[in-house]
Amino acid sequence: MKAAVYRENGGPEVLSYEEVADPVPGADEVLIRVEAISIEGGDLLSRQRLPLPHSPYIVGYSTAGTVIAVGEHVTDLRVGQRVSAFGETGSHAELRVVRPDHCWVLPDGLDAAAAACVPVAFGTAYEALFEQAAVTTGSTVLVQGVAGGVGFAAVQLAAKAGARVIGTGSSRRQLDALRRLGLHDGIDYTTEDVRRRVLDLTDGVGVDLVVDPVGGPMTQELILATREGGTIAFLGFSAGQPLIDPVTLVMGDRTMKGFMLSKIFHTPRVRAYLTDIFRRVADGDLDVLVDRTFPLADAADAHRYAEQRGRLGRVVMTP
Ligand SMILES: NC(=O)c1ccc[n+]([C@@H]2O[C@H](COP(=O)([O-])OP(=O)(O)OC[C@H]3O[C@@H](n4cnc5c(N)ncnc54)[C@H](OP(=O)(O)O)[C@@H]3O)[C@@H](O)[C@H]2O)c1
Repeated sequence: MKAAVYRENGGPEVLSYEEVADPVPGADEVLIRVEAISIEGGDLLSRQRLPLPHSPYIVGYSTAGTVIAVGEHVTDLRVGQRVSAFGETGSHAELRVVRPDHCWVLPDGLDAAAAACVPVAFGTAYEALFEQAAVTTGSTVLVQGVAGGVGFAAVQLAAKAGARVIGTGSSRRQLDALRRLGLHDGIDYTTEDVRRRVLDLTDGVGVDLVVDPVGGPMTQELILATREGGTIAFLGFSAGQPLIDPVTLVMGDRTMKGFMLSKIFHTPRVRAYLTDIFRRVADGDLDVLVDRTFPLADAADAHRYAEQRGRLGRVVMTP
């Protein structure tokens, strides 16, 4: 099969489109012919800095495609079914092997590009909003980076649950697009004082919950924009490791939480809420934002584009 591989960490240029051996499913696995690959924020971080488990290495979490072989112990999937499939590795390829409990059969009407983008973005956002916190009608939520994958999912899920959603982005274009999907107040973090604006918008109180998949220097500002007794769901660090002052958690009686969705994808409760989310996306209740699509053969260009600031949603590749 063809795949985008790399042999060392680095910029997008380390990716090379090559012929490699086809993967073979074990007894408890399924083989997928990939139709669409979502480039996740985590894929970029892996390529940049995570040690390679082996070389050459095929990075990548999230895909959609068709089941073309099942291991002898697999009973809940069959050849020919179209699925969205998550794995710790191997999305940037024509074929991949995954666990059945990391697959969701696609509802009718859901295309592969959208389906590939659903599990990580919407699963992470849902877990932060409703499982790690209890967002409901009247809650106030601040989403950092509304145009990223986790960001656009969190804005929609929170708004549909009746929360007031404040969000940050790097351009008016992003904030206007997200307003159409439920964002109430948009803040441009390249030009505005985020903490001051959030406090102004909440009569000096701060928000109930921060959803922060971006990290970097802004995280400390977000802590200070959280109300006393509020929660900060810290999910990722696209902008780098945050430097935080834990005293501001203590003095504000605030809780900071983190989790790794990849460790709990297989659990019945995550599988259940993601099954519901796939249905909602297929029905048009939730939107997947795809900024641009590239051929897998141009994976280096696709990663380069995905690393640019100001994107609106996911970058997708097709084998
Ligand atoms: N804990 C978990 O289970 C979990 C699950 C999913 C993702 N994550 C993590 O969450 C993070 C976001 O993932 P994602 O898939 O949503 O990523 P994404 O789609 O690439 O979005 C990243 C966002 O970060 C913003 N950003 C701000 N400063 C940035 C900078 N210096 N460099 C790059 N981006 C910057 C970008 O917006 P602008 O460019 O417009 O500023 C963009 O909205 C990643 O670190 C990922 O590993 C964690």
